Amino acid sequence: MSVVLFGGEKGGTGKTTLATNLAVYLVRHGAEVLVLDTDKQGSASGWAAARSQTPELAKVQSVSKFGDVVDSARDLADKYQHIIIDAGGRDSRELRSAMLAADVMYVPIKASQFDLWTMERMNELVGQSQGFNRKLKAFAILSMAPTNPRIGEAEEAKGMLGDFEHLGLASTIIRERKVYRDAVTQGRGVLECENEKAVDEIESLGKEVFNGII
Ligand SMILES: Nc1ncnc2c1ncn2[C@@H]1O[C@H](COP(=O)(O)OP(=O)(O)OP(=O)(O)O)[C@@H](O)[C@H]1O
Ligand SMILES: [Mg+2]
Repeated sequence: MSVVLFGGEKGGTGKTTLATNLAVYLVRHGAEVLVLDTDKQGSASGWAAARSQTPELAKVQSVSKFGDVVDSARDLADKYQHIIIDAGGRDSRELRSAMLAADVMYVPIKASQFDLWTMERMNELVGQSQGFNRKLKAFAILSMAPTNPRIGEAEEAKGMLGDFEHLGLASTIIRERKVYRDAVTQGRGVLECENEKAVDEIESLGKEVFNGII
């Protein structure tokens, strides 16, 4: 059983993209998953609705909850093997309450927009949440990194992340690839598209997040 949260204080960093791709990773590995959308923009539930229009795709259940979501998240965690929570891109009641129910939180950051101050605030927020939820672990994950290795943004951001007390760094790096945009609009994960490199990235992320669980 696991509750995985995608959150952060910045908008448009890839939270919904990674949450939905990880949900597809789970169903394709025979695990049961529920996507809990706590973002009023409803992108993750929109994705699940688009997905349900394509009968050949394995169904991914989703529900939306807003406000204080800790009790709902904990109840759902008793009923489903895995819960993936998509929180919106700001410091919100949804984000803070989801952090009380999560086992692990990933904070996607765009390497190009790397912002030390935001990471310091996230580190602090994770530290506070761990006071109430001792099991919480949190990692930044580089998202939308340039595919051209000569643009060393991902490596620079990695260096700047240094060693925050409460925030690790995921070893998987997600690169900027059109297939991520195409997949999400079709209610798919990149595992259901033809792009080997993106498939490798999500398989790597899935192993990293669920290693030992599935
Ligand atoms: N690795 C990627 N490569 C290319 N495009 C991406 C990638 N990740 C996300 N995108 C695109 O960037 C945009 C923002 O991504 P996404 O919606 O996942 O971010 P978000 O953090 O959930 O945003 P919000 O804070 O608004 O909820 C979307 O159009 C998405 O398709
Ligand atoms: Mg989103």
